[in-house]
Order: sequence, then structure tokens, then C-alpha cells
Amino acid sequence: MTPRLYLPLLAGWLASVAASAAPAPAITDESKVPPYTLPDPLVTTAGSPVRDAAAWRAQRRPELLELFAREVYGRTPSGRPAALRAEVTSVDRLALDGKATRKEVTLWFTGKTDGPRMHLLIYQPNGLKSPPPVFLGLNFFGNHTVHADHAITLAQPHVVYDAARYRPADPQPQKKPPQRGAHADKWQVEAVIARGYATATAWCNDLAPDRADGLAAPGSVSEMLGTGGAELRAGDAWGAMGVWAWGLSRALDYLETDPELDAQRVAVHGFSRLGKAADWAAAQDERFAMLISNESGCGGAALSKRIYGETVGIINSKFPHWFAKNFRRYDDNEAALLVDQHELLALIAPRPLYVASAEGDQWSDPRGEFLSAQAAEPVYSLFGKKGLGVTAMPPLDTPVGDTIRYHNRTGKHDMTAYDWAQYLDFADRHLRR
Ligand code: GCU
Repeated sequence: MTPRLYLPLLAGWLASVAASAAPAPAITDESKVPPYTLPDPLVTTAGSPVRDAAAWRAQRRPELLELFAREVYGRTPSGRPAALRAEVTSVDRLALDGKATRKEVTLWFTGKTDGPRMHLLIYQPNGLKSPPPVFLGLNFFGNHTVHADHAITLAQPHVVYDAARYRPADPQPQKKPPQRGAHADKWQVEAVIARGYATATAWCNDLAPDRADGLAAPGSVSEMLGTGGAELRAGDAWGAMGVWAWGLSRALDYLETDPELDAQRVAVHGFSRLGKAADWAAAQDERFAMLISNESGCGGAALSKRIYGETVGIINSKFPHWFAKNFRRYDDNEAALLVDQHELLALIAPRPLYVASAEGDQWSDPRGEFLSAQAAEPVYSLFGKKGLGVTAMPPLDTPVGDTIRYHNRTGKHDMTAYDWAQYLDFADRHLRR
């Protein structure tokens, strides 16, 4: 082979090696974090300043939504399907020792009872004078895992991860299906009910199974809407985060039709990967009155350009189905992003926003979550809302802030009774009439 032919081949080979190279390892030493520059939420991509709330709404907010859709999460192809039908499948007015009403509702997305669907589980406090506000969030392993209540319908299929089809690199291959109440600690249903709130949840896998081939799985919303699997889709087609966020909005569509619940006061929340989905749902859908982002980390509340803990390259290689394919352009190349996650949080403004980290969860980058919440403040200020009110990260277990609130809890990656107590106080302050 002559050198002239050989060189392009070599260049092609090098490019393919670079593309498939393992992402740079995570940094967890603060002194090793490289310098970075954040985009200013109050300057448009073209460079003009955003001076007031009207300009934010008319210009910058749509621009940021477009950037997040195109480059990070993928586009949400449709809103409420015209044929969507809600069927209340069970009601028990004497649940939780008579303290609550338990409802199960199936949302049939095509209207057909053999088509794609999502099962919603709702507990609402009994004996209230007016419809309660609602905490709404997706769960990881099926509705039956949020409380030991035996009347909750067991999630189907009652298999969570098919280890054989899951990527070998995934940290959580799991064969045994989680049991009833396995995640009750993370949901604190009794505490929420006792404080006068309803709680509603659905399993993320009803919308798109959380595995590399989940976007193309029969019965998933992505398959229903024909947006393609993780590899065979357009660069700006949505990933699982987008599908899950869509499902949260459909749950809210149902809540709007239920006269026993106050859909004007829905706090959408999520933990970890489902926190990322909740963040994106609240950013897009302004009907959500509040966002609680619990250790949502990379691709959620944490800054991407700050290289600490999980990075864009790491998350895309482990979870190729979570984000848009376009997001892979920023693998080990975060500096090229035109947006960062503080601008996602800014899209929640002026609505109340709680960002929570845990000290034992350095993977999610607590400092990156704090700095992100802080960098969203200028947008809240446009609306006359107060943010964190501090310049330095607060001590552990010390919530700070007003309309934007933050804490860094002691302990591991989790959503605990302590976290819930803070969220309930926050809701009392901002959602109570
Ligand atoms: C992994 C992943 C995180 C995610 C977490 C979770 O650790 O890297 O991005 O938040 O799983 O969902 O529990």
C-alpha cells in the first residue's frame, strides 16, 4: 500500500479508536478539578443581555429549552396523546389504617387496553376540607416497592433488570425482583400523608425500561412514538430521561382531572436518575409548581463542566439510552457545551426549587449541585425571588435558602426521612394556601 492510501486509513482507525475509547476516569479530589467557565444564563447565545423577566420568558427561556432538547435530553415529540384514557382500577377509602385513600389509575396512552400504559398509585389523606397538594415522582422498581401495603398491584413484568441484556458495565445488574415495601424508606408515605399531602407515583419502566435496549422495547412510549432505540435514532431524539419526564407530565394530566387532588400544587420530585428526569420534566412543563431534585447528579442538578465525580463521558458510556445521542459529542469535551445544568435549574424559576446532596455520594458531586443551584439565582432574582442567600456551601445537615433551597446531608446516596422532612417543610412554606 502506498503511503498516500495508508494515511487516511490510519486517520480513520485512530478516529474510531478515539470514539470508542473509555472515558477519562472520575476525579474525586477537589484539588484536581480543572478550571472551567459557565455560560451566563442571562446572556443569549448571540451575546445579548437578558435584562428582565419578560426577556427571559420571551427569548432566553425558549433558547435554553431548545439547547437542552437538542444537545442533552433529546426532543420531546408530543404532549398529551389525544386518545389517552385514564381508568381508575381500584379505590380503598380505608387504606393505611383509615388515614388515607389509596387509588390505582391506569393511563392507556393510545386509549387501547392492550397498548402502552402507565400505572399510577396515589395515596391521599382522608378528612381534609379541600383537595391536597401532591408529591409526584417516579419509582425505580415498581409501585409495590414504595409501601408494604399488600393491596398495591404488583408491578408487571415483575422483573426489573434482565442482567443478560443489560450492559456488563452497569453497576446494578439485578435478577431478583424487589419485594413489597423494599423502598418504603425512600418514600415515607405515612409522613407525607400525616402532613396533609397526597403522594403519587409510577414505575419508570412502564414508560421505557431502564436498560440499553429499553427505548425500542415493545410497549415503551418511545416505541409507541417511533423515535428509535439508543443507537438507531436521530441525534436529537429523546432518551429515557425524556420519556420518563413525558410520563410525569402525563401523570399530571391525570391529576388535573381528579377533583380530589389539587393539580395546581404538584411538587415533582426524583432521586438520582429519576431526579434527572424530574428536573427535565419541571423545566419543560410549567404546570409543576415545585421541583425537588434529590441527588440527581450528572445530567441532573450537578454542573457538567465541573469535572468531578461522574462525567458526561462516563454517564453516556454506561447508560447509552438515557440522553440524546448528541450529548455524546461532549464526552470528555464538556467545555464545548453551550449550556450547563445551572441553566436547567434556572428554567424552574420562579417556582420553588429544592436541590439536595449527600456527603457520602461524591459521585453526584455535592459541590457541583450547590454551585449549580447558586448559579441559577440571577434568574430567580429577575422574578424578585430569593435564592440560597449564602456564598459558601453550608455545613452538613444545614438547609439554606428561600425559593431555592439546598442541603448536603450526612450519609449515603439515598432519599431519607431527613430529606423528606426538609421537603415537607419547604412545601409547607411555598405550597400551603
Ligand atoms: C448510577 C449513575 C448515576 C445515577 C445513579 C442512580 O450511579 O451513574 O448517574 O444517578 O446510578 O440512579 O442511582
